[in-house]
Amino acid sequence: METLTVQPSRRSRKLGLSGIREIFEKAQKIPDVIRLEFGEPDFDTPDNIKAAAIRAINAGMTKYTSSAGVPELRSAIASKLASENGVDYDSASEVIVTAGATSAINLAFLSTVDVGDEILVPDPGWATYPYAVQAVSAVPVSYPLREASGYSFEREAVERLVSAKTKAILINTPSNPTGAILQRSNLQEIADFAMERNLFVISDEVYEKFLYEDPGGKNKEHVSIASLQGMRERTVTVNAFSKTYAMTGWRLGYAAAAEPISAAMTKINAAQSSCVSTIAQYAALEALSGPQDSVSNMISAFAKRREVLVNGLNELPGFSCPMPHGAFYAFPNISGTRTKSYDLAMKIVEKGHVAVVPGSSFGAEGEDHLRLAYANSLENIRAALERIRKVL
Ligand SMILES: Cc1ncc(COP(=O)(O)O)c(C=O)c1O
Repeated sequence: METLTVQPSRRSRKLGLSGIREIFEKAQKIPDVIRLEFGEPDFDTPDNIKAAAIRAINAGMTKYTSSAGVPELRSAIASKLASENGVDYDSASEVIVTAGATSAINLAFLSTVDVGDEILVPDPGWATYPYAVQAVSAVPVSYPLREASGYSFEREAVERLVSAKTKAILINTPSNPTGAILQRSNLQEIADFAMERNLFVISDEVYEKFLYEDPGGKNKEHVSIASLQGMRERTVTVNAFSKTYAMTGWRLGYAAAAEPISAAMTKINAAQSSCVSTIAQYAALEALSGPQDSVSNMISAFAKRREVLVNGLNELPGFSCPMPHGAFYAFPNISGTRTKSYDLAMKIVEKGHVAVVPGSSFGAEGEDHLRLAYANSLENIRAALERIRKVL
């Protein structure tokens, strides 16, 4: 009898792996490598959060929860969104706890678009976005964010990309990889665009706490687009505990949206994973309701590292780096080195033993840049700058 061969789905075959992975694999094999490619805080999860998880285990909080998450946590998230982000959500029907922001984004896509629909994604933007769109059988359409305009949303450029199939636009502020923040007036332009074109907005705000002072001493402001007039009904606000509380491995995030979309996300979450780890959810409750000084201490450390890294990058031949206002990434322009970002990143890891990410991993507009995360000690950042200088 003829043997029939089975094939993975067409959807999965289309997916690529991000360029970060290649650098990561290379770096694994170099014992003295300094890792500036990682997108996660080098801090440990605060002790009070760990203790809450242990208490939850000992108290037998080890069963399934509602697919939207435990009510106490959803209620704490709704209070946070009201007081800090200026958006009112009903905790019982409009907030859902997810396995990281990654899952929140996936649920947002599955609940707002159908097979073959188009989703506008930022370029440069987090390398996973286009793959996440493809994984739900939708089509990613990259919209350019130009360095020359501070990586702000430029309606004219985006308008050209809209088709009858465009259903949603994804935004990310503060941004990975550029560290740029979308100002309130720019968010209003996005809001007007979304309302006129009848689009959903998926707003990834995982770096909202990572904001730094301007040279003038003024603190930057994080604005949630859902708080702008008319936007609550068409926005899915995505956030996570991963970066703010150094909890990347706990897989904890959330989404908030008006009731019909939240209900859809909850149904899909039930089908996909039932619910998020109960133990982790009680740890998240402590993260939100316990002391916040670990967050401010971490941000102060990042602020110092940002200065050292960016000043050091500006002294390298062929590099120029604007001061990023948020997140924990520097995104220097390296066109003065006359080397493609992929080749330069490879050279830096192979010869200098410093892992950095080529800007091209974040989209075509990312070419001529490298991304360096300052989620590493000042000592390592200084050593990395010296190694890169030698390579150049
Ligand atoms: C912009 C952005 N969104 C989402 C995520 C993923 O967050 P989580 O670990 O909570 O899934 C990352 C991780 O690097 C990110 O940079």
